[in-house]
Amino acid sequence: MERKKRTAPSIVAMKGAGEKIAVLTAYDFTTARILDEAGVDVILVGDSAAMVVLGYENTLPVSLDAMIVLTAAVSRARPRALVVGDMPFMSYQASIADAVRNAGRMVKEGGAETVKLEGGAKLAPRIEAILEAGIPVMGHVGLTPQSIHELGGYRVQGRNDATRARLLDDARALEDAGCFSIVLEAIPWQVGREITEAIGIPTIGIGAGPHTDGQVLVVNDIVGYVEGRTPKFVRRYGDAKSVVSQAAKGFVDDVKSGEYPTLEESY
Ligand code: KIV
Repeated sequence: MERKKRTAPSIVAMKGAGEKIAVLTAYDFTTARILDEAGVDVILVGDSAAMVVLGYENTLPVSLDAMIVLTAAVSRARPRALVVGDMPFMSYQASIADAVRNAGRMVKEGGAETVKLEGGAKLAPRIEAILEAGIPVMGHVGLTPQSIHELGGYRVQGRNDATRARLLDDARALEDAGCFSIVLEAIPWQVGREITEAIGIPTIGIGAGPHTDGQVLVVNDIVGYVEGRTPKFVRRYGDAKSVVSQAAKGFVDDVKSGEYPTLEESY
């Protein structure tokens, strides 16, 4: 049976049905096809692309134009999964008008079906304005990497009563503003559960424990592209680095030795 196309309303309905939501990032056409065939519900073209695709130290430098190019590549895979375009740093912070115009570019030029913004209650007017333009919005609270300088680095959020209460307020405000789901990043699992139980829209956790309505991970992490230490919540499901490295070494050896190409591989 052909899988039904996922939409923002159908993702919301999954919470009501008690069906867990599987979200992965992708930044290119080929990977989007593979993830879609594997059955992911949502493909997030995350601004993590800044680090894992473009090699920056953090997510702050990636431009809206670059995010649109990557989002368009994913959209051209025409996935059954819902495509979320991540709004990069300074594409929505300066004004409501910027937020609407740039979310519109994500949809119009990038083919995104929804957009994601990082931040809590103070973003409500921007979210409402983007929704007025007919674009569904995914929120993102907890560790919000676009605010690393304000947060003092990549730290678990919501560890004390005051910050836990603020996170809960932020999640409620995002729901009230009209978000169709919220990413919860790097928070204690008890806080992930509390927020998930307190709001009616799906929560998508990354380092937020097992009780959220869905989980999101960066595709480069799960396939084993990344060297060295990864965050505690990352689970590796493959060893793509070895696969690519072995193939590349084999090619280099065959070229150097003259074993590639043969006449059968020639015109
Ligand atoms: O940019 C990204 O990949 C993200 C996820 C990690 C949630 O925002």
